Amino acid sequence: MRRKIVAGNWKMNTTLKEGLELAKAVKENAESGLPDGVSVIVAPPFTHLTGIKDVLPSSIGLSAQNCATDESGAFTGEVSAKMIASTGAQYVIIGHSERRLYFRETDDELNKKVNMALSNNLTPIFCCGENLEEREKGIYTEVVKKQIELGLSGIDKDDFKKIIIAYEPVWAIGTGKTASPEQAQEMHGYIRNLLAEMYDAEAADKVSILYGGSCKPSNAAEIFANEDVDGGLIGGASLNAADFLAIARSF
Ligand code: PGA
Repeated sequence: MRRKIVAGNWKMNTTLKEGLELAKAVKENAESGLPDGVSVIVAPPFTHLTGIKDVLPSSIGLSAQNCATDESGAFTGEVSAKMIASTGAQYVIIGHSERRLYFRETDDELNKKVNMALSNNLTPIFCCGENLEEREKGIYTEVVKKQIELGLSGIDKDDFKKIIIAYEPVWAIGTGKTASPEQAQEMHGYIRNLLAEMYDAEAADKVSILYGGSCKPSNAAEIFANEDVDGGLIGGASLNAADFLAIARSF
């Protein structure tokens, strides 16, 4: 059985104090139980990682939202995968569409980040997804194929097994518009087949593929019910512990 995962991407939200309160609320809410086999991860801003690590029980994962392409050196303002790992975080989101769009992150840079994460024992949560124009033109599978092939270029099968994929159609992120269960399944199935071609069927069958984009308690169950959807990367709704955990309980 594949691992089911609900990860909360807090983006650039919460002060340190607010973030610690939110982490405590997530911990307390999670104590009343989660469905079997469901893992919860929170991805706060860099500044909160160390403090939140102390608040969270070991059953809740901790993730950064980005990492640098290099390990150390004269890169003012950057945070390396090695630094993230030193906080006790276990995951890092790589290639979120906001990083691709606003910070012009290229496929080549994202490939370096995936390698950096893996070499520092962090699990990459690798994001892909088409924008509205690409969806409307009907070229969304090609777009996602290219993002995955280039982002995971040179990653061998053993390392691939450590990766989590997040499919996030850009037109559904923060817009209140969700992919329909059929649209989500179509893309998740497509991605799993692509990964089976790149690696093999067994490896592809084991990788968790999360859906992201306006996922909330009211729509999570119908999205998660799809065969190839193994959970969600949650933005807005992860800023409320009750909503976030309600999503995790939608399996
Ligand atoms: P959203 O964001 O849930 O607010 O749409 C999802 C994401 O960007 O990861």
